[in-house]
Amino acid sequence: MSAYGSLEGKRVVVLGGTSGLGLAAAKAAATDGANVVVASSRQASVDAALRELESLGSHASVDGHVVNLANEAEVRGFFESTGDFDHLIYTAGEAIRLGELASTDLAKARDYFDVRLWGALAAVKYAAPHIARGGSVVLTTGIAGQRPQRGWALGAMICNAIEGLTRAMAMELAPVRVNAVCPGVVRTPLWREMSDGERDAMFRNVGAALPVGRAGEAEDIAEAYMFLMRERYATGHVLVVDGGGLLV
Ligand SMILES: NC(=O)c1ccc[n+]([C@@H]2O[C@H](COP(=O)([O-])OP(=O)(O)OC[C@H]3O[C@@H](n4cnc5c(N)ncnc54)[C@H](OP(=O)(O)O)[C@@H]3O)[C@@H](O)[C@H]2O)c1
Repeated sequence: MSAYGSLEGKRVVVLGGTSGLGLAAAKAAATDGANVVVASSRQASVDAALRELESLGSHASVDGHVVNLANEAEVRGFFESTGDFDHLIYTAGEAIRLGELASTDLAKARDYFDVRLWGALAAVKYAAPHIARGGSVVLTTGIAGQRPQRGWALGAMICNAIEGLTRAMAMELAPVRVNAVCPGVVRTPLWREMSDGERDAMFRNVGAALPVGRAGEAEDIAEAYMFLMRERYATGHVLVVDGGGLLV
């Protein structure tokens, strides 16, 4: 077993690891000496992420795969071919969709759960037999679950479902630890469907209202995934990293 505080020689699988929070966590893990596997649905994003990870110059290995996490058979096939590993991080999710309930198409709303919730559930199911003793799962939620704004119903529902899944899996998969990271608003490609002007204004306004005075960066949140992988005693925990967003 490596010393506390190091992922040296560990194998870390990051689903959604080609962008934003997942890519930042993958880079932090690779820099710490972990062998990293990233996966997402588009070959172009896998290739770009591998170039970034390889440019870190870590002596550890980096590997990338195309998997549509909304497709259970693809998730099962991915874990059958990936083999055994130490830590699973799940950050996958499509571009954010906001809207008040009155204008929400309920049939389409169901699709929004496919990657973030059902994909996470499938990933935990098919990953579990391959996670080494001492390993862990780190899922992703968000402060929308506890502090939803108008138009955030679907996001709030998904976040609370993920937090429930985290606690249930901590019991069911023990001694494998299962935790979740809960970010506030973070500057990542997730917000790409907003115009540049709207997005800049949102980050500026969110930042100005926070105790820390700025919106989050993916690297801020990567530290939380790293902590939950490296420490050995937290399980069933939701780690909030939101610049104080829950307080304001
Ligand atoms: N950024 C924030 O402010 C924030 C705050 C709270 C919570 N979160 C949550 O954190 C998670 C990660 O967000 P992020 O900011 O890192 O977003 P991001 O930069 O857009 O990254 C999302 C990742 O998910 C992958 N993905 C999307 N659909 C997929 C599918 N069907 N199968 C496999 N991979 C898929 C994307 O790659 P491909 O396009 O190649 O598939 C990408 O790698 C999301 O669930 C988000 O809701 C984010």
